[in-house]
Amino acid sequence: MGLIKIQSFSFLFTILILSSSSLPHRHRHNRRHHRRNSQLIPTIFHPPLIPSNVNGEWVLLHESIGVSAMHMQLLYNNKVIIFDRTDFGASNLSLPQGKCRFDDEVLDVDCSAHSVLYDILSNTYRPLMVQTDVWCSSGALNSDGTLIQTGGYHAGDRKIRLFSPCDGDVDCDWTELPQNLTVQRWYASDHILPDGRVIIVGGRKAFSYEFFPKTMDDNGGVFHLPFLVETTDPMEENNLYPFLYILPNGNLYIFSNQRSIVLDYVNHNVLREFPMIPGEKRSYPATGSSVMLPLRLRQGQELVVEVMICGGAWGGAYVKALEGEFWRGSSSCGRMTLTDPDPKWVMEEMPSGRVMPDMLLLPTGDVLILNGAANGAAGWENAIDPVLNPVLYRPDEPDPRRRFTVLTPTTIARMYHSSAILLPDGRILVGGSNPHATYNFTGVKYPTELSLEAFSPPYLATQYAHLRPLNQAVDVGQVLSYGQQFSITFTLPFPQPDAEFMVSMIPPSFTTHSFGMNQRLLFLEIVGVERLFMFGYRVIVFAPPTRNIAPPGYYMVFVVHQGVPGHSVWVKIQ
Ligand SMILES: *[C@@H]1O[C@H](CO)[C@@H](O)[C@H](O)[C@H]1NC(C)=O
Ligand SMILES: *[C@@H]1O[C@H](CO)[C@@H](O)[C@H](O)[C@H]1NC(C)=O
Ligand SMILES: *[C@@H]1O[C@H](CO)[C@@H](O)[C@H](O)[C@H]1NC(C)=O
Repeated sequence: MGLIKIQSFSFLFTILILSSSSLPHRHRHNRRHHRRNSQLIPTIFHPPLIPSNVNGEWVLLHESIGVSAMHMQLLYNNKVIIFDRTDFGASNLSLPQGKCRFDDEVLDVDCSAHSVLYDILSNTYRPLMVQTDVWCSSGALNSDGTLIQTGGYHAGDRKIRLFSPCDGDVDCDWTELPQNLTVQRWYASDHILPDGRVIIVGGRKAFSYEFFPKTMDDNGGVFHLPFLVETTDPMEENNLYPFLYILPNGNLYIFSNQRSIVLDYVNHNVLREFPMIPGEKRSYPATGSSVMLPLRLRQGQELVVEVMICGGAWGGAYVKALEGEFWRGSSSCGRMTLTDPDPKWVMEEMPSGRVMPDMLLLPTGDVLILNGAANGAAGWENAIDPVLNPVLYRPDEPDPRRRFTVLTPTTIARMYHSSAILLPDGRILVGGSNPHATYNFTGVKYPTELSLEAFSPPYLATQYAHLRPLNQAVDVGQVLSYGQQFSITFTLPFPQPDAEFMVSMIPPSFTTHSFGMNQRLLFLEIVGVERLFMFGYRVIVFAPPTRNIAPPGYYMVFVVHQGVPGHSVWVKIQ
């Protein structure tokens, strides 16, 4: 493969644009990896600093989509499944003519929708029909991109439901499987495994894990996990919706309450336990959020694995909230490098306290923290003072005081039962919030939210448009093999004399209750960058080497140029 050094064109207009004061300041410090063939091959670069006048933008997509977005899952056909619970009465959206559920717990016959399919491109939605209660459930995409959704409440608490992406006129909808989960799962977390199965961990009074689909050696289908008993606090639990990450060695990291372990789910052994995170509780209803920071893939180098957790509430906050006393949410974040010989939590302070935050990995490797409340705990009527400002966190910024940037606030409270996901174009889809047992639009301080918003992070600001990669395409079609070399072509609006690129790969997460299940970001190893013509480039990368690093399925691939991502392309790795 002949690699061409990127030439330094010095067109006058290019110079003018690049030297304008609006250019994001570029950082080159703190690069963890030295550059191989440093003259030829741009590799990992720090995202740009955000000038204070570019703090992101909110757009109201819909005042009402008829249901409150408690759960959201993006599919590879650029549609988003959104669903709420079913057991509180009618929603504000009717099911198509002739469709009703006939054994509803409140209405007997309920002809309203509790789920919608949102189409990103056309900004439209249509009603879907869930058959049983999906309240506080969990999910993961399988390797074909089908949503495997598990559990819920009452008649739904052992259900396994599927939703397969479909296009055109096909009226695809939810299906329920005849087989059930072995135990009821309400407030559990799911993760796709390297072998393509899904693991379902925990849930209320479910101190165990199980798999879908089941295999012969499944031991009756369920495996006890004492860790989940040990992390249950009396009166308030504080251990639901555990944070799960598949580690590069294939084992499962599980965080619950303030503790975390590595589980070998094949041999059913807890391999190790990490130190407790200091301070507040982090799991439902003392809800914080978490991400695994980006994995930077490099052949022949050990991966650094670092987990980050932000927000939450003190033990006791939930019980106090039930009495109408709202304690301050946690303002602390902890980072722990799991691959260190002696892992320890390193604590930092967010600009403000937050219970029920959502944490999302952006294509740049930065972390967006949004939604949630300043005081209280998760649960109905349990929180006050919504935090309207998202916060951008730059994990690689060496000076901790400069890692957080407060961004443009929304005007809509997104507290309990809200959600947020990354879209293929780099925006964040934000919806939901219903801190009440029913839909209450009047006479309450924080009305039920049926609206849908999009937040454009600073990198989408028009002043960076000259840096944005366009027309991304993958040269190998859509399907990748592990370790394969492939390339992505794209154009830049102007020739860039000193082009710097990163390539990130992100699977769509299942988001509910402040946690993006299956969320991870892989910075692919760049082999080289070719300039094809004045505006055209090709970046050559290695696909992730193993199923442990990238469980099989669909991913968004973003080319990031000087901290500005283009519109991603979908790839399927298998
Ligand atoms: C939902 O429907 C109720 C009852 O018809 C109505 O009062 C309310 O304004 C609607 N809310 C939204 C956000 O559409
Ligand atoms: C699954 O559970 C339902 C009750 O919700 C039951 O009717 C059905 O028989 C179960 N399926 C199997 C395969 O056991
Ligand atoms: C919400 O509306 C329901 C039904 O109208 C009502 O019974 C309930 O008290 C309301 N909840 C609050 C918190 O006002």
